[in-house]
Amino acid sequence: MDHFLYRDGELHAEDVVLRDIAAAVGTPFYCYSTATLTRHYQLFTDALSPLRHLVCFAVKANSNIAVLKHLGDLGAGMDVVSVGEYLRARAAGVPGERIVFSGVGKTREEMRIALEGGIRQFNVESEPELEALSEVAAGMGATAPIALRVNPDVDARTHEKIATGRKEDKFGVPIARASEIYARAAALPGLQVVGIDMHIGSQLTDLAPFEAAYTRMADLTRALRAEGHRIERLDLGGGLGIPYTRSNEAPPLPTDYGAMVKRVLGDLDCEVEIEPGRLIAGNAGVLVAQVIYRKEGEGRDFLILDAAMNDLIRPAMYGAHHDIVPLIEPEAGAPLAPVDIVGPVCETGDTFARQRPMPPLAAGDLVAFRSAGAYGAVMSSEYNSRPLIPEVLVCGDHFAVIRARPTFDEMLARDTFPAWM
Ligand code: LLP
Repeated sequence: MDHFLYRDGELHAEDVVLRDIAAAVGTPFYCYSTATLTRHYQLFTDALSPLRHLVCFAVKANSNIAVLKHLGDLGAGMDVVSVGEYLRARAAGVPGERIVFSGVGKTREEMRIALEGGIRQFNVESEPELEALSEVAAGMGATAPIALRVNPDVDARTHEKIATGRKEDKFGVPIARASEIYARAAALPGLQVVGIDMHIGSQLTDLAPFEAAYTRMADLTRALRAEGHRIERLDLGGGLGIPYTRSNEAPPLPTDYGAMVKRVLGDLDCEVEIEPGRLIAGNAGVLVAQVIYRKEGEGRDFLILDAAMNDLIRPAMYGAHHDIVPLIEPEAGAPLAPVDIVGPVCETGDTFARQRPMPPLAAGDLVAFRSAGAYGAVMSSEYNSRPLIPEVLVCGDHFAVIRARPTFDEMLARDTFPAWM
């Protein structure tokens, strides 16, 4: 459930009319709902209770520091994959003890900054990384708490580009070698083993792959404990999917996920960490755009929007579906006609939807892309020299710009001429 609903014929974000935000900030823009973020965070923490747990929001899904601050203030931890994300979480007021550092390619510099600033745990993904972290931590006279990310060789049955738990994927250490690598970790200076980490993929719409992976994690916990390791925390990763269409999708809910986690891992007396991104932020955001032109093509019409693939790349990159709805509620029974919905960028990949049945829409009309709060703004670029678009946060009946649209001058000022010109 989200808080983007039609009321009195107008699409609202909570109690704010989206058209009013468009008038104030211009289009295109991202808009997030505080109440939806709260609700989704709360669903997870309720689902895992009474287990000791920490919900670490995957910052990669939405890294605006106002969004992070809201979640951090609710008690969320953060899962970061770069020092940039780490610094965002810290700037949002999240203490280091609530930040886990994931990612396959942490540099020594990133390790050093996180150790200096405070970190809950590093999720280590390879033996070379283990050696590097040991050197950095020991060199600083520090101890780095670690979990090894173990690749359970489970197919998450999701989009090819976002499945991460098969043995051919670049992530984690093979589960068959975990015992050997944990022994190595225990012998290295500057490291303290605290747990096990896994993340098998994103947008999973079935609990079975999670259950298969977590069952392997439970077995591994017992085996490692028998070998003398202290396994106190289990980081289960993120990945629970969301419905991208109103109609036919019904992925499992956090409650179902939580019940499964308790059943599979509940008797291990571990603190459970999860790293959801999409489920917390995805349906908490929309992208609002305006129709620039309606163009008649050969046998098809095009709606050309002022938003493009540089603003929301998911359709171009993954063939992802986003529902697109008018800000003015269509009349009941309004006729739907198929149309191609595209952006102004100069490549055919800049297509949001082909032959999408839509109510009548003309130049000047406003539309919202639903489910755009995760992997939307964070994946945007300035391709075609289109400045990054603003982000707006709504709370009840008020809203604020939480990232302003840069001016063209600001965009140009980042480039410089070399001295010889
Ligand atoms: N933890 C780790 C280590 C991850 O790599 C990810 C996502 C998450 C947690 C959060 O997963 P979530 O709960 O959001 O599914 N750009 C793609 C999604 C990439 C996901 C990458 N890793 C998309 O737009 O669908």
